[in-house]
Amino acid sequence: MSSAEVVAVYPNRVKIAVHNIAELADGEPVEVGSYLKVYDNTESAIIAIIENYSIELRPSKEGDLERIYMLEAVPLGIIDRDGHFERGGGGIAIPPKTVSVAFKDEVQRIYNTVDSENRFHFAQLAQDEEVDVPVDGNKFFSRHLAVVGSTGSGKSHAMARIIQKATELRDESEPEEYSLNNTHVIIFDLHAEYRTAFPEANHLGVESLVLPYWLLNSEELQDLFIESNEEQSHNQIAILKRTITEGKKAHFSGSEDERDLIHYDSPLFFDIDDVLAAIKDKNEERIDTSTSARKSDKAGPLFGKLDNFITRLENRRNDRRLDFLLGDRAKSVRLEQVLRQFTGYIEGAQANVTVIDLSGVPFEVLSLTVSLVSRLLFDYSYYFKKKNVDGRSETPLLVVYEEAHKYVPKSGLAKYSSSRNAIERIAKEGRKYGITAAIVSQRPAEISETIFSQCNNFLAMRLTNPEDQNYVKRLIPDSLGPLTESLPMLSAGEALLIGDAAVMPSRVRLEDAHPSPSSSDVMYLREWARPWRNVHFDPIVKDWER
Ligand SMILES: Nc1ncnc2c1ncn2[C@@H]1O[C@H](COP(=O)(O)OP(=O)(O)OP(=O)(O)O)[C@@H](O)[C@H]1O
Ligand SMILES: [Mg+2]
Repeated sequence: MSSAEVVAVYPNRVKIAVHNIAELADGEPVEVGSYLKVYDNTESAIIAIIENYSIELRPSKEGDLERIYMLEAVPLGIIDRDGHFERGGGGIAIPPKTVSVAFKDEVQRIYNTVDSENRFHFAQLAQDEEVDVPVDGNKFFSRHLAVVGSTGSGKSHAMARIIQKATELRDESEPEEYSLNNTHVIIFDLHAEYRTAFPEANHLGVESLVLPYWLLNSEELQDLFIESNEEQSHNQIAILKRTITEGKKAHFSGSEDERDLIHYDSPLFFDIDDVLAAIKDKNEERIDTSTSARKSDKAGPLFGKLDNFITRLENRRNDRRLDFLLGDRAKSVRLEQVLRQFTGYIEGAQANVTVIDLSGVPFEVLSLTVSLVSRLLFDYSYYFKKKNVDGRSETPLLVVYEEAHKYVPKSGLAKYSSSRNAIERIAKEGRKYGITAAIVSQRPAEISETIFSQCNNFLAMRLTNPEDQNYVKRLIPDSLGPLTESLPMLSAGEALLIGDAAVMPSRVRLEDAHPSPSSSDVMYLREWARPWRNVHFDPIVKDWER
């Protein structure tokens, strides 16, 4: 009798009875996560991963008890006689004949079926660090990526490592060595974590960021200036539209015909102070009703109705925290400078990675900020491709949305609609124009489904919340359901790597980031054991009050 036999075949798992575990493994350890080869009558084998096992005690012929290991394994793909690997459960020809453990070099060979030219490395197999798990880098970056996991599961480190590896890529056929490759990554960093991981990056904080208000579209402008529950909001919307469109026309220097085409959403300059003045005029307008006999006037249609609106406009205009948006530097900047700033094409300071540090951006304008930058990056990619003679995207972008649940939630709340629209547009059409998104979140269940359903690759890290686990399970092909059972047990830096770019779904350990993002766990015991440390409150308070 052979040491192992298949006793049951289900669509997404096989059950194997093992009489002699040592013989099956040939001395190697067999554990949950080990790979098996299941041969049928053809010469190809199913590769399956052990998901669980149990032990049955049965009376043997000799009269004592025989231990039988019952393994359950999830089929991942088929390897043919020539070592060619194809994903998917496939059919197992009945009866399956023999079962053996796949050895390290066999498993490595399977992973190496990724075209060597396209191999991109950032992880090893969780159960055996000697097995490298490369992905197909073209498929990985040209489709959207989702990185999900509870807090502290290692998402930021994973993202940092992936980007670091991307900036190290070099084209071997180039005759000269070069220090900067053509990687372009833009990170929305909510907690100022990425600066340490990318010391050479183009860093934009609230002090240096310039995101001019005149590039906002109608929806974003209304987000910023209109309280939709106010009685007069329809009047406010109408007058804002009229005065802004007039303001754009007034500053336009092109031909008369071109001027006629200018509309509310044209990405053209207008002066916010002129708009404010025009609105004040309307609020104070009196209409002359004098007759030859008597001088008289009456209140204009909006007389006194715009008080709240004007106060809000003025408050925003004078809010120093919003200087990056509405301050004087936002008035003088040109569209080209804005684009260069966000793509790292800054004269003399080019950078592969642009870190947009949003930690100082007031929460009420966070969604709008992400929305505007995303829209600019999308439009830039669109026009770049359009202008390029052969229609190629030669500077493809990756946009990383950290803590995405904060600005693209599933909820239909109006205040998130602009950022949701902008990111959904990248999710739906970005691929064609060479702009892809990496969505990083600890609350996947709270994120817009439109966005998640467009992701082709997943790094699912430890997830403890059952609602999030179920959500992730739903997004992952049925046949892999059993693999996701391990989600709550993964350790920091471990992930299930699933998707187009992976040879087969795998449990991997991400390489640690060098240098790390500043999101590492605080070493409480070490810090607390030190002698009392004095704190200078003055600079803290100053920074706060700024
Ligand atoms: N690949 C790894 N190897 C070893 N340790 C890791 C690895 N990745 C992350 N860690 C550790 O896990 C901890 C949390 O990592 P990280 O900040 O990336 O988590 P996170 O998922 O981004 O959390 P949050 O949702 O709160 O932002 C850190 O202390 C880090 O050192
Ligand atoms: Mg993080």
